[in-house]
Amino acid sequence: MRIVLGVTGGIAAYKAAELARQLVRNGHEITVVMTKGAEEFIRPLTFASLTGRKVITDLFSSASPDATLSSAVEHIGVAREHDLLLVAPATADVLAKFAHGLADDFLSTLYLAFDGPVVLAPAMNDRMWSHAAVRENVAVLRGRGHALVEPGDGYLACGTVGPGRLAESEKIVAAVEDALRKRRTDLVGQTILITAGPTREPVDPVRYISNRSSGKMGYALAEAALARGARVLLVSGPVNLQPPARAEVEQVQTAAEMRDAVFAHLFEATVVIKCAAVADFRPATPSAQKIKKTSADRTLELVPVPDILAELGDGPRNFILVGFAAETENLLDYARRKLEGKNCDMIVANRVGGDGSAFESESNEVLLVLRNGETIPVDRAPKRVVADHIFDQIVKLGK
Ligand code: C5P
Repeated sequence: MRIVLGVTGGIAAYKAAELARQLVRNGHEITVVMTKGAEEFIRPLTFASLTGRKVITDLFSSASPDATLSSAVEHIGVAREHDLLLVAPATADVLAKFAHGLADDFLSTLYLAFDGPVVLAPAMNDRMWSHAAVRENVAVLRGRGHALVEPGDGYLACGTVGPGRLAESEKIVAAVEDALRKRRTDLVGQTILITAGPTREPVDPVRYISNRSSGKMGYALAEAALARGARVLLVSGPVNLQPPARAEVEQVQTAAEMRDAVFAHLFEATVVIKCAAVADFRPATPSAQKIKKTSADRTLELVPVPDILAELGDGPRNFILVGFAAETENLLDYARRKLEGKNCDMIVANRVGGDGSAFESESNEVLLVLRNGETIPVDRAPKRVVADHIFDQIVKLGK
């Protein structure tokens, strides 16, 4: 496989040489990208000798104007030609750049252009490693589905003892091999229709009935499906999220609009995932004018909204149908009933309300309920990771 080894400026940079040697020995082709900081600790020639390949040292490194132009676009080519991006050692600086999308050198620019698996092996001072800023950046990167090879405990260059030492190279190589094995292209050729977020049912021109859904789970599903090679049609209720660049997005407000968008694209879909928290009721007659305040009690008449999922499950179909069940109690029982009642192939059940609620959260803990009676628990993890577990089952259902 073709691997980019990003080396950043920490005292552990010299250990990347041993890492490069082991990866070459495992039969991989290694392209080393060094940051300016890394060059303070180790010479590019070391890596060139070990890998037998040119080492990339910086975005605008060459003095020749032509070469500057070619190296300025080279990161796109390098991103396309490689199967995995490994950064070892990864400094606090590079973690922050990756987490926030800064792109001011070759490695950080390459990261933004790369859509394959990413393995990060941080190394830094123990206090830096435990700082809230670093913890938050690590959580963001994990949430994106990247593998983090935790630093080990031990003597640090600064003279203290604690967590921060670059993990042993055997451990990093194992994480790389694992990520390569899991590198999934198993959704190539599939068109996945995903609904996400809440719906809004108008009461009058300024008020609506909605729910707490953030859309994060649906957007994580879209990201995971794209990473595994699918085409993604994302029908989204109003959320504060940036949709993945390659998703084809249709924005809707009401359940009726969501239904129309789903049925307009249904003929293209091989998998339909109804992750949206659709309203069950809407105001019977939304007022055309803003309702004025009065001191009298007021009753809002609600009528049921057509159940899109149930409608999709009705009759023969040539797509896999996955529903979600958000419950505050009797999770498994309700999920099983929903599976039968709405004739789905799988229900993803999650608890809402109280501690560990799925709503508005970055992480989720779900139960996958299948038609054959099997239930598969997925432990609490970032929603992007949970999304991959859901697709593992969908791939099995398709076989
Ligand atoms: O019955 P309940 O609303 O809890 O079921 C949740 C599942 O049904 C979700 O997959 C949701 O997207 C879907 N649903 C729907 N149309 C509705 C209500 C819910 O598709 N009107």
